[in-house]
Amino acid sequence: MADRGISLHELDPRDRYKLLCGVVVPRPIALVTTLDENGAVNAAPFSFFNVFSENPALIVLGLQHKPDHAPKDTTRNIHRDGEFVVHMVDEALSVAMNDCAVDFPSGDSEVAATGLATLPSIDVKVPRLAAAPFALECRRQVTLNFSPDRELLVGEVLRVHARAGLVDEATMYVDLEAYRPIGRMFGNLYTTQRDTFTLVRESHAQWLARQDAKEAPKG
Ligand SMILES: Cc1cc2nc3c(=O)[nH]c(=O)nc-3n(C[C@H](O)[C@H](O)[C@H](O)COP(=O)(O)O)c2cc1C
Repeated sequence: MADRGISLHELDPRDRYKLLCGVVVPRPIALVTTLDENGAVNAAPFSFFNVFSENPALIVLGLQHKPDHAPKDTTRNIHRDGEFVVHMVDEALSVAMNDCAVDFPSGDSEVAATGLATLPSIDVKVPRLAAAPFALECRRQVTLNFSPDRELLVGEVLRVHARAGLVDEATMYVDLEAYRPIGRMFGNLYTTQRDTFTLVRESHAQWLARQDAKEAPKG
């Protein structure tokens, strides 16, 4: 019988989540700070996250509502003032990142609870985390609602703060050895990015030259 794959329409949402999150790996993690209406700094991790454009500089976050269908604190705060800071997570920040996913009551600051130090941002009011390797000051561009419980947030990156020694500002190259980012696999499984390899991207002319060299008679 022909392989018909797995129809997502025939899976319940929980199994779809497990399948898609196991397949699309590793995913980067955004540890997002926002400000609540009383000025408390909220922090929460999101692995439905990526950058997808540099001109304009845009990132996306997949925001799932809570089981009672209420928006998470991060979502509520971004709805209200449109500002947030995305922190990239390195190996040293991984435990604190996970602590920030605890379902603290609304109004409790994960930043205060975990003892994470903050620094002021420049383009947004939301403070950034001092311990993060990179902090991206962001402003909401647009929010797309795909169901009562799921929205996609597109944010513009206004400014990037880098820990000293991570970026060569003459070339904009990032020192991966010094950075040590982590990624999310699925569930409680994470990965480091220590085992990398290089593939050089070719032009069509280079590709043809390589085929010719392969086919040329030896000797
Ligand atoms: C590594 C990791 C990745 C997560 N990714 C997401 C995500 O992409 N979308 C989401 O809605 N929740 C995600 N969560 C769950 C939220 O972090 C969690 O619900 C958090 O308590 C929300 O906090 P808040 O109410 O302060 O915004 C993730 C949790 C972890 C540990």
